[in-house]
Amino acid sequence: MQTALSPYLFDATGGLRWHARALAARHGAWAPFRAGLADWLETWKPRSRRLLLLGPSAGWCLPDAFLARFDAVHGVDLDLLSEPLFRLAHPRSPPATWSRVDLFANLAALLEGARGHAVLLCNVAGQRRLHAGVAQAEADIARLRDALAGRDWASFHDLLSGACADDLTPLQAQRRMGGAQVLAHYRQGGEWLDHLTGALLPPQAPRRILPWRITGARLHFVEAGFISREGY
Ligand SMILES: C[S@@+](CC[C@H](N)C(=O)[O-])C[C@H]1O[C@@H](n2cnc3c(N)ncnc32)[C@H](O)[C@@H]1O
Repeated sequence: MQTALSPYLFDATGGLRWHARALAARHGAWAPFRAGLADWLETWKPRSRRLLLLGPSAGWCLPDAFLARFDAVHGVDLDLLSEPLFRLAHPRSPPATWSRVDLFANLAALLEGARGHAVLLCNVAGQRRLHAGVAQAEADIARLRDALAGRDWASFHDLLSGACADDLTPLQAQRRMGGAQVLAHYRQGGEWLDHLTGALLPPQAPRRILPWRITGARLHFVEAGFISREGY
């Protein structure tokens, strides 16, 4: 069991296994996903030049060109290795500070402390069900969405994951697509894990679905969208 002092090195959502996998795959099997993510991040133009990264790990999937658009970055991640590896992976990152805390347990203080920052949730919301039960994860994700009201924020997050061997390309959607619609679009059946993030973005927000082959047999459908203070 993880405790408040745990370095989260053997965690289901990050830690050593995640870093090893990222190092092995980021320029190979993950390259199409990383390119799709970079392309989507180009379309997000928050007004602030300060960025709060929630759950960035070492930023294995975050492009340097995106980080370079900001003057300062603050990362929040449970994993002890996230900060030093982020600095190694992004040597030209803007000055970065870090909080090694649970973002859900410290949400109000983190958002208050980064009041003028744009917020990017870095594939973290869909991990909540791996730390908490389904009901708790749903409640936490709804609380997260409500706490971000009035901010410039963006999120990319697991929507569904499952076994799939097909090569799939990104999809642009003008509004929310339920998991069943996404699977129908990609002509996928079988069993898929619902990451409980379907209601994180407002229904009217445009979004992209980025297929991500995380390992040989396993594919994640990552949903990516943003909200500005004025709307979408
Ligand atoms: C899938 S990884 C994100 C990867 C990242 N997008 C990248 O480019 O490398 C999820 C990260 O979220 C962190 N995390 C998960 N739950 C968290 C929580 N409740 N609070 C803070 N960090 C959390 C994990 O430690 C892990 O580093």
